[in-house]
Amino acid sequence: MIRSVVRGIGSALPRRIMKNADFEGMVETSDEWIAQRTGIRQRHIAADDETTASLGEAAARAALANAGLTPDDIDLIVLATSTPNNTFPATAVEIQNRLGMRHGFAFDMQAVCSGFVYAVTTADLYIKGGLAKRVLVIGSETFSRILDWSDRSTCVLFGDGAGALVLEAEEGQGTIADRGVLAASLRSDGTHKDKLYVDGGPSTTGTVGHLKMEGREVFKHAVGMITDVIEDVFAQTGVSADTLDWFVPHQANKRIIDASAKKLGIAEDKAVVTVHLHGNTSAASVPLALSTAVADGRIKKGDLVMLEAMGGGFTWGAVLLRW
Ligand code: ACO
Repeated sequence: MIRSVVRGIGSALPRRIMKNADFEGMVETSDEWIAQRTGIRQRHIAADDETTASLGEAAARAALANAGLTPDDIDLIVLATSTPNNTFPATAVEIQNRLGMRHGFAFDMQAVCSGFVYAVTTADLYIKGGLAKRVLVIGSETFSRILDWSDRSTCVLFGDGAGALVLEAEEGQGTIADRGVLAASLRSDGTHKDKLYVDGGPSTTGTVGHLKMEGREVFKHAVGMITDVIEDVFAQTGVSADTLDWFVPHQANKRIIDASAKKLGIAEDKAVVTVHLHGNTSAASVPLALSTAVADGRIKKGDLVMLEAMGGGFTWGAVLLRW
C-alpha cells in the first residue's frame, strides 16, 4: 500500500524573542506565574514584515532543502493556520506563489491548534488517493495579531512561528513496520465553541477580532480529549505507550502535556517539550516541536512518533507515524 513518508522538515521563527519578564510592565503578571502555570519562558513575536505567509514560506524552503527537493517537485501545499494573511485568497496559494510554483494546487485548513494534525491526515489521504505524490504540509501562525494585549489571561500564552514537512508517496507493506503515516484519529465538537474563540470574522462583525479563552474550562477537557484519540490510535495499530519512541504533543501548557503522558503511561523522557521556548504557536506548535527533536538528534529514521493536538472548536486529534 501507499504510505506518506516524511522526506524533509523545516521551521522558521520571528526574529524577536519576548521573555515573560517583558510582560511585567504591560499587564499585572510575573515570570514566576507564567512559568509555573504553563511552563512558558519565552515566545517569538512577528514584526510588521513577518507574516503567516513569510514564516510559512521560510519553513517550507527549509523543509525542501532538508529533503533535497525544489518547489518543482511538490504537487500540493496544505497550510494549517487560523491567522491567514487575508480572509482570501488562501495563504497557501500566496506561499505557492512565493515559492515560484506555477503548477499543482494549494489550500488552507482551519482547525485552530489541531490544524497541523488535520493537515497531515488530509495530505496523507491526497497521497493515498493518488492526487499528489509530494505534499508540503505547513503550520504557520501569527497569533500575536489576534491577541488582546491587555488581557493577561491570554496574551502571555501564545507566540508566532512556522514548521513544515514534506510528505512523499512510498510503497509500504501495509504493516506498522512501514515508514510514514500509519494511523490517525480526528474529532471535533462545536458545543464547546464559546470556551475558545475569536470574537470577530468577515460574516459577523466584519473585523478580525481577538482571542477569548476560558482557560480553566479548556484545561478541564484537554487531557481527556487528547488521551481518547491517542488510545484510539493505539487500538487501531497495536502500538502501546511502551513501544512508542516519541510523543510530540501540541505545546499549549506543560501541565497538560505531563498529565496526558502520565494518564497514557508514556515515560516523561519520551515527550518532546518546546513550550518553554515558543509558547503556544497553535498549528505551528507540533511541527516546531518535531523540528527541534529532529535537529537535536532525538527523532531518528524508523522511530515511532505520536503527534497530538487539541484546540478551539473544540477540535482534537492524533497521528501515528514512523519517521
Ligand atoms: N498573570 C497572573 N495572574 C493571572 C494571569 C497572568 N498572566 N492570568 C490569569 N491570572 C489569574 C486569574 O485572574 C486568576 O485569579 P483569581 O483567582 O483572582 O480569579 C488566577 O490567576 C488563576 O487563574 P486560572 O485561569 O484558574 O489559572 P489556571 O491555573 O487555570 O491557568 C491557564 C490558566 C494557564 C490559561 C490554564 O488554564 C491553561 O493552560 N488552560 C488551557 C489552555 C490551552 O490548552 N489551550 C489550548 C488550546 S489553544 C488553541 O486552540 C488556540
